[in-house]
Amino acid sequence: MMVKTFGSAVYGVEAITISVEVNVMPGKFYYIVGLPDNAVKESIQRVESAIKTNEYFMPRTKLVVNLAPADIKKSGSAFDLAIAIGTLGATEQLHHPERLADYIIMGELNLDGTIQPIKGALPIAITARKEGFKGLILPKQNSREAGMVNNLNVYGVSHMNEVIEFFRDENSLQPIIVDTRDEFFNAQSDFDIDFSDVKGQKNIKRALEIAAAGGHNAILIGPPGAGKTMLAKRLPTILPPLSLQEALETTKIHSVAGKLPENATLISKRPFRSPHHTISDVALVGGGGIPQPGEISLAHNGVLFLDELPEFKRTVLEVMRQPMEERRVSISRAKVAVDFPTSFMLIASMNPCPCGFYNHPEKECTCPPGGVQKYLNKVSGPLLDRIDLHVEVTPVAFSELSSQENGEDSSSIRTRVIRAREIQAERYKDHPGIYSNAQISSKMLKEICVIDIVSQNLLKAAMNKLNLSARAYDRILKVSRTIADLSQSAAIKPEHIAEAIQYRSLDREGWAG
Ligand SMILES: Nc1ncnc2c1ncn2[C@@H]1O[C@H](COP(=O)(O)OP(=O)(O)OP(=O)(O)O)[C@@H](O)[C@H]1O
Ligand SMILES: [Mg+2]
Repeated sequence: MMVKTFGSAVYGVEAITISVEVNVMPGKFYYIVGLPDNAVKESIQRVESAIKTNEYFMPRTKLVVNLAPADIKKSGSAFDLAIAIGTLGATEQLHHPERLADYIIMGELNLDGTIQPIKGALPIAITARKEGFKGLILPKQNSREAGMVNNLNVYGVSHMNEVIEFFRDENSLQPIIVDTRDEFFNAQSDFDIDFSDVKGQKNIKRALEIAAAGGHNAILIGPPGAGKTMLAKRLPTILPPLSLQEALETTKIHSVAGKLPENATLISKRPFRSPHHTISDVALVGGGGIPQPGEISLAHNGVLFLDELPEFKRTVLEVMRQPMEERRVSISRAKVAVDFPTSFMLIASMNPCPCGFYNHPEKECTCPPGGVQKYLNKVSGPLLDRIDLHVEVTPVAFSELSSQENGEDSSSIRTRVIRAREIQAERYKDHPGIYSNAQISSKMLKEICVIDIVSQNLLKAAMNKLNLSARAYDRILKVSRTIADLSQSAAIKPEHIAEAIQYRSLDREGWAG
């Protein structure tokens, strides 16, 4: 007898329904057809073991499993459960096999019939609902993630026998009910770190507030132990909370990558990703036979922190440039091309030089002549070009570190950031895809960042005095627009320009000169 049930294959952040047909007929051997990879081909071994261990039988005749459409590559072990249940249906060991076609069934089998979690449960559930399936049966560990999708019955199971029983008696399993909304909104402002943990460093906090307000990339430059990592980690606490839409996008990516914790639902906080500098380009931007998202996509709608930027391989940083610009990355392989979103804020950190003490107020830099410039040159120029704010971090004095006084907390800073973002949302409402000052093109810059003659003269004088390079000019204008937005000023004023000029350390000819 032939039966049909359904599984799902994940490409990029979308899932495509795959029909799983199982037939038994005269002949010998078991076959899986329809472009399966090795893990799918091995599936039959796990299925056979699970079926026999639970005292059902495998056919002694020919068994054919067809995964369709055949032109889509199927990968991994997540089709095991559908194949096993289909096999039981085809060999008349399952009640109501006609109900099989109403469900998508996903899960990896252990040899004893227990079930392992899968990747991509959220996109699978979204597709299942869109296509009007009656239900989705999947591993218990993924059921809350899939259960976020409304109007779809999601059943979490931990053993093959529960699925067999479900086809005998529909009431043996209850669909999971997840109320994500409350959970989501409650968790949004619940951080275990805060800017008030950082003593002193008022000017650095101010710079990060500007970065957050305008969506600007920033680099923190300073000696070891100055607090760069500590400061960067706290950036998500002052960014505007994720919208439901953003949360869904980010959660989908983490779901596909298999990075959601067990029983997770919507990600409620902006991600903060800090890959180590030994990371490969595939791990950073994404890739693989069946393309998987990389760190730049896992950081989507959040922060990518590249600690010790000059230690990263230049080639690795180069591949990041285009996705940074386009806010998505396209990965093509022989059979497939998939897109992952990559809209993130880049925060980098670096020591100013190999010894770490160049420009230090008290300590002497011991690097050889030219050493500082050589160190900076390790960072790709075009990447530096995409960083609006250069922030020099010096360690706080002991007296400040030991003081009891707490700095401003994250939620007060966040309130100002949100206000500045609202001004930008209004300004860019007719420019689809643009939400913040950091994103505007140099053409738009000319219309949006108009400055009066006093500011122009100030900027000209500063450019000459500090020997700023031409690329600094646009950056200063953009950043001054954000500073004006933070002080709710419609016009960019000289004081806004003056503050923005301070954030171009690395462009100064004096730097490393
Ligand atoms: N302003 C500060 N307030 C409170 N603690 C601080 C401050 N600055 C530094 N610290 C303490 O010093 C530790 C080291 O800081 P952190 O690791 O952030 O430095 P870093 O600049 O990243 O150094 P490295 O270059 O070695 O990575 C922090 O974990 C924190 O405990
Ligand atoms: Mg550090």
